[in-house]
Amino acid sequence: MTDHELKSLLEGMTLEEKVGQLVQCNAGNFISNSMGITGPDGEALPAEEMNRVLGSVLTFENAEQAKALQEKHLAADRNRIPLLLMMDVIHGLRTTYPIPLAMGCGFDDALTAECADMARREASACGVHVTFNPMVDTARDARWGRIMETYSEEPMINGRMGAAIVKITQGKNLADPENIACCVKHYAAYGAPEAGRDYNAVEMSERQLRESYLPAYKACVDAGARLIMPSFNALNGIPSVANQWLMNQVLRKEWGFDGVVISDYDAVGELVTQGVAADAKDAARLAMEAGCDIDMVKNIYYEHLAELVREGIVTEEALNAAVMRVLRLKNELGLFENPYHGASEEKEKAVYLCPAHRETARRAAEETAVLLKNEGVLPFRKDVKRIALIGPFAESRQLNGFWSRPGAEQYTVTLPEGIRNLLPEAELVTEKGCGADLGDMDRGGIEAAVRAAKEADAVILAIGEPEYDSGEGRSRSDVTLPGVQMELAERVIAANPNTAVLLFNGRPLAVPELSRIAPALLEMWYPGTEAGNACARLLWGDANPCGKLSVGLPYSVGQYPMPYNRTNTGRPKPGPDGQPVPFTSCYLDGPNLPLYSFGYGLSYTRFEYEKLETDRDSIGREDCLQVSVTLRNAGERRGKETVQLYLRDRVASVVRPIQQLIDYQKVELAPGERTTVRFRVTEKQLRFWNFACREVSEPGEFEISCGWADHLLLTRRFELK
Ligand code: NOJ
Repeated sequence: MTDHELKSLLEGMTLEEKVGQLVQCNAGNFISNSMGITGPDGEALPAEEMNRVLGSVLTFENAEQAKALQEKHLAADRNRIPLLLMMDVIHGLRTTYPIPLAMGCGFDDALTAECADMARREASACGVHVTFNPMVDTARDARWGRIMETYSEEPMINGRMGAAIVKITQGKNLADPENIACCVKHYAAYGAPEAGRDYNAVEMSERQLRESYLPAYKACVDAGARLIMPSFNALNGIPSVANQWLMNQVLRKEWGFDGVVISDYDAVGELVTQGVAADAKDAARLAMEAGCDIDMVKNIYYEHLAELVREGIVTEEALNAAVMRVLRLKNELGLFENPYHGASEEKEKAVYLCPAHRETARRAAEETAVLLKNEGVLPFRKDVKRIALIGPFAESRQLNGFWSRPGAEQYTVTLPEGIRNLLPEAELVTEKGCGADLGDMDRGGIEAAVRAAKEADAVILAIGEPEYDSGEGRSRSDVTLPGVQMELAERVIAANPNTAVLLFNGRPLAVPELSRIAPALLEMWYPGTEAGNACARLLWGDANPCGKLSVGLPYSVGQYPMPYNRTNTGRPKPGPDGQPVPFTSCYLDGPNLPLYSFGYGLSYTRFEYEKLETDRDSIGREDCLQVSVTLRNAGERRGKETVQLYLRDRVASVVRPIQQLIDYQKVELAPGERTTVRFRVTEKQLRFWNFACREVSEPGEFEISCGWADHLLLTRRFELK
């Protein structure tokens, strides 16, 4: 349709019909649906009545349902305005790839895009028009269970990965039935809740917000994301969905966002609980005034918006603008011409779990695993006769993570399946040993596990956190291994030193003791559908670990907040970490630094950083500094290395981080091979938000380094004139 036609469609709509476009309800109101929902269900709805005017639904199962929903709606709506069908397709639909936090550890934007591409193909076949993805909240606190949904503690990584996802998912033309629209979330600073407890309030200076939280959302908006979701939390006293500064000023005016704002699940209704709205009607007013176009579930707009417009409290102009944004999105998706978009049962059959998707998922699982420790145990020898596979995840299919679709785990390759695929001849003994649930203190299986370990040539200990202990509403005040898993680890490792520990978890875990005693420690996160195959290939060296931590792992929960890009105090602790030094900034009972720092990760080969060079000693504001890093694969295996570039502003008007990642590149090298990786540094990358909250760069001396956080290997200085 032309914009003119859309406008005349709008003109012909009744007030009730306009409001309907701004209402979203659970698809479960119209179809039987086993998909999980993430909040209280909607009120008992006059479903048929509502369907006449409804604008969008969320969460359904398949193409058949998508078509039925649309057909039923179109038959009821006299304007024949198609529904928008939305869903959380976060790390895959049927083929599940590693959780976003793992993808961050891949440090590979192209790999993330490749995974998003297969999710797009599966989701469009299923009939999805909009995915609530990417989530790019800066998250630095392992207590917050939703840290698994983000890519990194570094907003630049989140912005790069988020933008890559937006571009590949939306494509050049949204009307192409294989493309779907992206909803960036959760705007803003949802990843910084007080005390790491989900949904909790955030108090933060504007300077900090603009420096460390807003850039990732902006990167996605700049990449063309068509929707954005305000976060549940109050930000400096105002819940985001009612935050006019955040939405009208920053998002729409400063960033020029012209797409659709959709509330999070019942977030409009929750304005009453949070105590900024007197009642539901007041909540609808506040959200409309802040430019929230669609109300997700709970029908606050459905029940109150028309009245607010009739009373002149919300202007018809504001209502029309919101409705037009929704109609334009439907039009961009080509829904007026093809309301079913990509929904196709045949296509579902062809793309779900197809070999190409499985192969991408496997590669992603391999390239996002982080080898934390290896004392010559890995890779295991292939001539191993007897393998003991021990731990609560030894035979589990629960290796997908919180946002995998219900039922997807039945397709997940278990560890025994993966090992048998690789080593069909080896004898494999499995023992659970104990459970992984919080509060599960049953030690009954430990003896059998120890026996199995003693009799084996190689032991794999698969421990971690149950997959639903991280994700939405899953905060923890303690981030150690749940239950008696640590006891199991101590006993098994003592019984057989040829043990490799696999960790399955969605949040950084504090495992200092495990890390001390484990001969080898491989962080797998939740690897998804191809988990078992990826693990086996990593353990036996068919794949070489190359993930780097995109978030630091703590010694203890008491270290939070623990950003890698911390600033110096006036009394930094000298000497080695761990020992307290009186009257310096340190703990009496533990180290300052993380157990494993941001950017850290081992390989089966060894990379040597030989040279860091810059093409000049000073740059002007219009110039660009050429930086080159030469490294060599000094080991015996082919491997990939992420070259990380860090910046330090030596003197500035506000304290600046002692290390700030500004760029990265992943390279692959054969044994003995040497390469030079080139970066360009411009004045823009030297900017920061000053005390007056202006984005500036200040002339003076800078340092550029490579290595990883807290372990910068080579450094050079240059000046900005
Ligand atoms: C609540 C979550 O916060 C959000 O991330 C998700 O997209 C919506 N529910 C819809 O499921």
